[in-house]
Amino acid sequence: MRTLKELEAKGRRVLVRVDFNVPLTPEGKVRDALRIEESLPTLRRLKEQGARTILMSHLGRPKKPDPALSLRPVAEKLGELLGTNVAFVTSCVGEAARTAATAVKDGEFLLLENLRFDPREEANEEGFAQELARLGEVFVEDAFGTVHRAHASTVGVPKLLPSYAGFLVEREVRELTQLTEAPRHPYVALIGGMKIDTKLPLLKNLMHGIDRLLIGGALGANIVAQTSGNGGPMGDVVADLLAMAKKAEVEVVLPSDFLLQEDSSGKVMTSGGPTVPPGFRAMDIGPATRELFCHRLSDAETVFVNGPLGKAEDPNFAEGSRQVFSEIGRRPRVSIVAGGDTAGIVRSMGLVNAFSYLSTGGGAALEFIEGRTLPGLAVLP
Ligand code: 3PG
Repeated sequence: MRTLKELEAKGRRVLVRVDFNVPLTPEGKVRDALRIEESLPTLRRLKEQGARTILMSHLGRPKKPDPALSLRPVAEKLGELLGTNVAFVTSCVGEAARTAATAVKDGEFLLLENLRFDPREEANEEGFAQELARLGEVFVEDAFGTVHRAHASTVGVPKLLPSYAGFLVEREVRELTQLTEAPRHPYVALIGGMKIDTKLPLLKNLMHGIDRLLIGGALGANIVAQTSGNGGPMGDVVADLLAMAKKAEVEVVLPSDFLLQEDSSGKVMTSGGPTVPPGFRAMDIGPATRELFCHRLSDAETVFVNGPLGKAEDPNFAEGSRQVFSEIGRRPRVSIVAGGDTAGIVRSMGLVNAFSYLSTGGGAALEFIEGRTLPGLAVLP
């Protein structure tokens, strides 16, 4: 990929696609700024060079303008992090956007309003891409979290302007490639979260590279129920997955106990075994599983983590994730967290240093690891 290092940006209007799709508090403040922080190397470079930087992003999934999903609070947060004013314009195309873009001076920043307030963004409408492209002279793709979307700002604009990969995109590709090309062994995947159907493509793809698969979360509880016959007959999905693991000689490690919560009373207790009695719900892995997972991780040279092992946003059910994630940080190895809000959970637990890399990509990182072609990368020269 041609990267930002090759761009002479002084005095030029540089249109940058960033992924500022960040969680907000109910008061509309930025709750987790990982994606904004990770865009700083690119933005600082452009500032140092004296570029006129015009930033565009989406936030949430609006189909029309929605004040609750305005990027204005993000402009404020970015200004704080960059230590400079970031101008904001309440539209992303049209007269107001053009006037604001023209007013940007060397070393200054402008953030456009949420691209998805206009349905032409997701429809990848050519006229919309042309309007966006008119705001800049060159394009930088730094929204790694959005490169799996073929939208106007991710594939339309780079077809119209000379395009470069930003430092975040470059870094994400380099880091995630450690999982896809010649990973160091033993390679262990630690997968949590909710639904097997959404994880299936990822799990299937991982089977070709990993040595061991540790499954927690509601996903793990579900598979345990099916394999033990407690959840009725084993579904085809689970049966296929286990057959695939056997064929690929991947060791599958399932929870041997759970932290339970009683539906009626809310009482919390350990299960003492791999069963979830009626009227209870598995909320986290239990103490024996924590030890088991830590043991099966101890010799890993490469670890990939996707999804918490329990309902980790609730402190009562965070211990499984906390203990196992901490184990990963006990010695240096390639250890990468990606997908969904897993990086956010790791950050809120204060365990960033346990990992060698926290990806900013949700679906994009998973699709990359699954080996799919990502349109926003494929379009870059
Ligand atoms: C993400 O959060 O994964 C990206 O910002 C993409 O968002 P989307 O799934 O709404 O396209």
